[in-house]
Amino acid sequence: MINELIERAFGARENAYAPYSGFKVGAALLTESGKIYTGCNVENASYPVGICAERTAFSKAVSDGERKFSVIVIAGSSSTYCYPCGMCRQFMAEFCGDDFEIISAKSTDDYRIIKMGELLPYTFDSSSFE
Ligand code: THU
Repeated sequence: MINELIERAFGARENAYAPYSGFKVGAALLTESGKIYTGCNVENASYPVGICAERTAFSKAVSDGERKFSVIVIAGSSSTYCYPCGMCRQFMAEFCGDDFEIISAKSTDDYRIIKMGELLPYTFDSSSFE
């Protein structure tokens, strides 16, 4: 399953719209029910308007009614590991617990697995309102 997700993430990376940074990113998100949603970064001439690959994938899944996720693969560069930006960490934490896995892949045989709880400890989420 990890290999399939990595391949799907690199496939989505092909569609990245990154004319400003030149840095293409793809993501493949697996729901608990076994569906895969892909995403890529989509930049904008007004730079902050652009969206990262991770939030694209999550937004596609959530808008399809999905709420439970088990893992996301991020495919950025094949020479360095690409980790989610701070905004994406917060976005993902809305839907994912500490055990959600983030896989940063350089290729199908070179990747790192990190847990949400490591990427964003002491999360601000809905429980903070209690
Ligand atoms: N980017 C992502 O899509 N995901 C990441 O994990 C890191 C950064 C995008 C945002 C922007 O379009 C480009 O990469 C350079 O920052």
